Amino acid sequence: MILGIETSCDETAASVVTHDGEIVSNVVASQAELHARFGGVVPEVASRRHLELVAPVIDAALDGHAIDAVAVTSRPGLIGALLVGVSAAKAIAWARRLPLVAVDHLHGHVASLYLKPLDLQPPFTCLLASGGHTMLLDVQDRGGYRVLGTTLDDAAGEAFDKGARLLGLGYPGGKEIDALARSGDPDAYDFPVARVPGLDFSFSGLKTSLLYRVRDLPPGELERRRADLAASYQRAIVRALIGRLEAVGADRVAVVGGVAANSELRAALPHAALAPLPLCTDNAAMIASAARYVEPVPRDDYLRLDARSSA
Ligand code: KG4
Ligand code: ZN
Repeated sequence: MILGIETSCDETAASVVTHDGEIVSNVVASQAELHARFGGVVPEVASRRHLELVAPVIDAALDGHAIDAVAVTSRPGLIGALLVGVSAAKAIAWARRLPLVAVDHLHGHVASLYLKPLDLQPPFTCLLASGGHTMLLDVQDRGGYRVLGTTLDDAAGEAFDKGARLLGLGYPGGKEIDALARSGDPDAYDFPVARVPGLDFSFSGLKTSLLYRVRDLPPGELERRRADLAASYQRAIVRALIGRLEAVGADRVAVVGGVAANSELRAALPHAALAPLPLCTDNAAMIASAARYVEPVPRDDYLRLDARSSA
């Protein structure tokens, strides 16, 4: 059994997963409420909160289960936040003389598909859409991925979060827009889908376009038009994501990351393998899952293992 630890952003998470991909426990303590009043994650506040939560969250996940390896997200993410998880993982692995595995957070998101009961087998083309990343990946085996395209500016989840802020909705915004869009008309506004060469993405123009629409509304109109704006804005993001998947023309498609929880995106891809809802946003089960396909850090190098903010 593998203990996974994830602290790259604003979720403190720990999970125990078996070597054949059964989830034994999956504990996620979200800091979203703590950051909501700032309208986004404040890195230093996140690190301090991780420090308070990491031990109790790990204890809750372990719950007396015997483990034989420790896995931790070591990159990419907020450096102070990552360091809390990496230090905790080193300490536990060292004290219990267990193998320590350093996991790439993005590989973790893809590995959410390798847990049971889904247990997806490569090859497939994977859309990874989260708050920090939007990428199109070619996955040939469970050990990694090749990047086919990435965002040139904002990530899709960031576009949701910034859009929600412009509409006066709460943080994180993806879920709020998703809910409000159900009562709006997606054809009410015509938002642009960026034309970017190749397989890359761009969402900053879309965000600016929403800014102008909101600014140009007559006073008091935002309240009445909010659901239509949310529905039209969401439609544009979903179109941009699906457009790229269609451009690859792959037979087998999968979607992972926080934005994979979006109901319109899920409904638009009836034949795709979708990460299960509780595993879309950040969690540690996906980190333990990825660790099954990564070489452990050699024992003598444990203490040299460092966190990295970039991929
Ligand atoms: O994967 P994740 O938890 O963190 C990163 O690795 O970035 O993704 C969080 C992102 C946030 O931007 C959030 O607004 C978005 O996922 N999100 C959604 C939905 N639920 C979460 N976006 C659209 N629709 C949703 N239902
Ligand atoms: Zn993530």
